[in-house]
Amino acid sequence: MRFEHVLVVGAGQMGGGIAQVVAASGRRVSLHDAAPGTVERGLETMRKSLTRLAEKGGPDPDEVLGRVEPADDLVPADLMIEAVVEDARIKEDVFQRADGLLPGEAILASNTSSIPITSLAAVTSRPDRVIGMHFFNPVPVLTLVEVIRGLETSDETAAAITELARDLGKTPAEARDFPGFVSNRILMPFINEAVYALMEGVAEAEAIDTIAKLGFAHPMGPLALADLIGLDTCVAIMEVLHEGLGDPKYAPCPLLRQYVQAGRLGRKSGRGFYDYP
Ligand SMILES: NC(=O)c1ccc[n+]([C@@H]2O[C@H](COP(=O)([O-])OP(=O)(O)OC[C@H]3O[C@@H](n4cnc5c(N)ncnc54)[C@H](O)[C@@H]3O)[C@@H](O)[C@H]2O)c1
Repeated sequence: MRFEHVLVVGAGQMGGGIAQVVAASGRRVSLHDAAPGTVERGLETMRKSLTRLAEKGGPDPDEVLGRVEPADDLVPADLMIEAVVEDARIKEDVFQRADGLLPGEAILASNTSSIPITSLAAVTSRPDRVIGMHFFNPVPVLTLVEVIRGLETSDETAAAITELARDLGKTPAEARDFPGFVSNRILMPFINEAVYALMEGVAEAEAIDTIAKLGFAHPMGPLALADLIGLDTCVAIMEVLHEGLGDPKYAPCPLLRQYVQAGRLGRKSGRGFYDYP
């Protein structure tokens, strides 16, 4: 399946990046977000990213952006990639509506970090055509796509999405539908522990991040990474791990929750563990 027309739902950090790489591969993209002005902001971010990439030999930004159409609501397409907030109820509603609107043969994919693909599939009439297609942030730069098969996902669907990931220049890796899949089952407890170290006064934020960067050769420290991901998203993923695996070690650190309560969501709100003026 070539997926000539892709509907991307959610135009935040991830949805914008996904729309960009899909459009850069020559496909038509419809981009929808429920919050007014978000698609326009997403298009501006894409233009900046594409302009930087064009300087290094990337495609013409106007040509790529010419393939992205803002959509006021869900529209029929060959494939939906959902990238709305990490909230099971909201995602289920999107999947249910998409199932009623997209042609029967279309595939419905989610970029969820942790919500079970099987439960998103269960609200549709096509569980064999529902799959996890988990991109990494920033999408135009990081090359991994974690492909997650729900209980009923067919081999054809998994093969089509794996092939699409390769065609987007990404490297797919398959994971089973367990809470947090592979990436966030490993990453989130690491971030959460770093927040505990901060809360308990073991070290300042800069020292925690320096130790991880230089000691483990990570490109960025866990607190800076949490700011990039979004602290609200981190709490939501820890809650899925906690509930799904039933082990108290996955409970979100109280300081992480408190920052979210204060509206300190990381880069996207201008302030998290660090300030982003
Ligand atoms: N941030 C990351 O590093 C990262 C990495 C991989 C996967 N993800 C996953 O990607 C998804 C989106 O994360 P994000 O970081 O882009 O969040 P974000 O907060 O930047 O964007 C989410 C967008 O969803 C929109 N939205 C909410 N409800 C909607 C609805 N019913 N219909 C249409 N749009 C709706 C919001 O207006 C917002 O613009 C989440 O599932 C998250 O777990 C995030």
